[in-house]
Amino acid sequence: MSTVVLAYSGGLDTSVAIRWIQEKYGLDVIALTIDVGSERDIEAIADKARKIGAVKALIVDARADFVRYFVWPALQAGAIYEGYYPLATALARPLIARLLVEVAHAEGAIAVAHGCTGKGNDQVRFDVSIATLAPDLKIIAPLREWSMTRDHAIAYAAEHGIPVQATKASPYSVDQNLWGRSNECGILEDPWIEPPEEAFAWTASPTAAAHLQPTYSEITFQHGIPIALNGVEIDGVTLIETLNELAGRYGVGRIDSIENRLVGIKSREIYEAPAATVLHMAHRALESLTLSREQARFKEGVSSEYARLIYNGQWYSALHQDLASYVQSTQRFVSGTIRIRFSSGQCSVVGRKSEHSLYSHGLATYESGDQFDHNAALGFIKLWGLPLSTQAQAQLLPSIGMEGNLLAKVATKE
Ligand code: ARG
Repeated sequence: MSTVVLAYSGGLDTSVAIRWIQEKYGLDVIALTIDVGSERDIEAIADKARKIGAVKALIVDARADFVRYFVWPALQAGAIYEGYYPLATALARPLIARLLVEVAHAEGAIAVAHGCTGKGNDQVRFDVSIATLAPDLKIIAPLREWSMTRDHAIAYAAEHGIPVQATKASPYSVDQNLWGRSNECGILEDPWIEPPEEAFAWTASPTAAAHLQPTYSEITFQHGIPIALNGVEIDGVTLIETLNELAGRYGVGRIDSIENRLVGIKSREIYEAPAATVLHMAHRALESLTLSREQARFKEGVSSEYARLIYNGQWYSALHQDLASYVQSTQRFVSGTIRIRFSSGQCSVVGRKSEHSLYSHGLATYESGDQFDHNAALGFIKLWGLPLSTQAQAQLLPSIGMEGNLLAKVATKE
C-alpha cells in the first residue's frame, strides 16, 4: 500500500486525520511528531498515533535546529510582523515542512499531510514550502477537505475508538513552540473583549507579578546571537527556555493584536512570547550601540521585509537568501552584553557594553573632557539648513505663517 507522512500533534484534529486519511485515500499513515519545544509528552503522542492506526510513529527532536536555523536568523534580522508578532508559529512551519519532505522521501511515501484549516496562514506556509522542496509529493490537508465541525470530529473520534483527552474541548486554538505561544478562537474573536486569564499559559498576569522584587539579567551576544546568560555560556534551547520562565514569571511578553493574514482576513491574536520579547529588545539595544545611524535606518526596512516573507511562507525563496546575506553582514560587530531589568509586567534595558561600541563618551559628554567641536556645529547647521532656507525664499514663505496652520493653508491655497 502507498504511504503518507502526517505531521502529527496528538490533538483531536490530527488524530481524527489518521483514520480519515486511511478511509478516504486508502493510504498507510506514518505519523511524524516534531518537537519544536511544545513541552508535551512526545513519547505518549507517538504511542497514541500507533494505537489509532498509524503504521509507524516517528519522533524528531528539532529544537536545536529550530533555534539555530530559524529563530536566531529571525532574531538577527529583527523580524517582527506588523510591529507585534515575533513569528513563533510562522518560523516553525518551514522546518516542519522540510522534515515532512525528508521523512517522506526516506520512507518512499507518495504524499505528506498536515492538520491546517483552510482559513489560516499555516496551510500556505506548509503547501508552498512542500511544493518548493518536493514538487513530486502530493499534499493532503484533511481539515481543509472535510466538512467536520469540532463536534463532528469528537463524534467521529468516539465512533472510531480514537481517544480524546478533553471531553469538553478547549475553546481556544493554540500553537506553541520555544519562540512563543499563539492563541486564537473562542471569546478572543471579539476584539473588544479583554482576554480572560485562562487564555494565558506561559505568563503571570502583571498584577499577580507585582509583588516580585525587580531582578536583573545579562545577555551576551556574539554576531547578533545570544551565547551567554549572566556571564555563563548557554545553548540556545536552554537560554530560550530559561528566559520564557523568568520573563513569564514577571508577566512579560503578552501580546494582544489584530493582524493581517495573508489570506486577506484580519484576525485577533493573543501571543505569549517572553523570551522573544526580551531577546528582541536586547538585540535591538546592542544594535543601537554598534550599528551606524545609516545601517540601522536601512535595516529597519529589511527587518519588516524579512518578517513579511516569514509570515507569508516564503522561507525557501531567493529573496530570503538575499536578505539573509545582508543581515549576516550587519551582524559582524553586533557583539557585547546587555543588562535587562525585570519588574512587574515589564522588562527594560538598563545597561549595554560592546568592544565594538560606536558610543564615544568624549563626544557625548556634557561634562569636562568634551571632544566635540562646537564651532564645527555652526558650519554644519548652515549647510544642513541651506536647502530649506533656499526653498523657503523661493516658494514657501507666504505659506509659512506663525499664525494659522501650515497644512490648512497649503490645503486651501494649493
Ligand atoms: N496568526 C499566527 C500566524 O499566522 C498564529 C497562528 C497559530 N495557529 C493557531 N492554531 N493558533 O502565524
